[in-house]
Amino acid sequence: MTARAPFEPGERVLLIDGRGRRYLVRLQAGGVFHFHGGVVSHDEVLGREEGVAVESAGGMTLVGFRPRLADFVLKMPRGAQVVYPKDLATILVFADVFPGADVLEAGTGSGALTLALCRATGPEGRIVSYELRPEFRQKAKENVEAFLGKVPEWLELRSGDVREVAGTGEDFDRIVLDLPDPWELLPELDRVLTPGGILCSYLPTVGQLQTLTLALEEHGYRQVETFETLLRSWHVTARSVRPDHRMVAHTGFLTVARRGGRKS
Ligand SMILES: C[S@@+](CC[C@H](N)C(=O)[O-])C[C@H]1O[C@@H](n2cnc3c(N)ncnc32)[C@H](O)[C@@H]1O
Repeated sequence: MTARAPFEPGERVLLIDGRGRRYLVRLQAGGVFHFHGGVVSHDEVLGREEGVAVESAGGMTLVGFRPRLADFVLKMPRGAQVVYPKDLATILVFADVFPGADVLEAGTGSGALTLALCRATGPEGRIVSYELRPEFRQKAKENVEAFLGKVPEWLELRSGDVREVAGTGEDFDRIVLDLPDPWELLPELDRVLTPGGILCSYLPTVGQLQTLTLALEEHGYRQVETFETLLRSWHVTARSVRPDHRMVAHTGFLTVARRGGRKS
């Protein structure tokens, strides 16, 4: 499937109604989608291009697009809590995940961050992602397959504790962590992060980021920075322009640090 191809059986379509409500639907020949506005036949979408408008049996019009990564991660089945799109975007830039980078990730969770990393490194890069819980690894694998069609060759989903990476002899340019106790892992992670490499950790509470920051400084990391991203969407119509009443006010803090040279 390319971005410009017509919709095919097996792929996902994001259906958006007149009030902006979004529904993620996996298309099947002869399938039907039920919602409060009635029923829509999948065959109305199959073989059509993005932007196709379909009318439900109840007379509501829905427009179909391929989901963006940001749409997909908010709708996909979750094992663990996902990293929100605003934080995915920030992680990719501030952890400086470049095309061709070797990236270590933990924990894989539901695979939202894994998907963003796959896109950012591209096929020239490599992502090794560890997950402690086999059922979460399986869920993440299914989510990656659902969005990318298959697990790309440059992604390796490993089961187990990320500490095990220390015994592999591998080296990484970037380490991206979304787990509760990253400071406990520094002795092992120090062994696999290349000098000048970047460690980025996503943590929900102030106590955690303080513990991590002090530990990073003790381990010789430099440029240790913590910040958060507040994303406020706006309501824009002909009659009024103002911020939306509701926003996701807190998700997590990002701490980013650079590894100093290895001691000789
Ligand atoms: C919040 S979730 C990660 C969500 C993920 N970033 C996403 O966007 O879908 C945290 C995950 O880390 C895993 N985890 C915790 N400690 C770990 C460790 N030492 N090694 C590997 N995985 C770990 C947990 O099992 C859990 O699934």
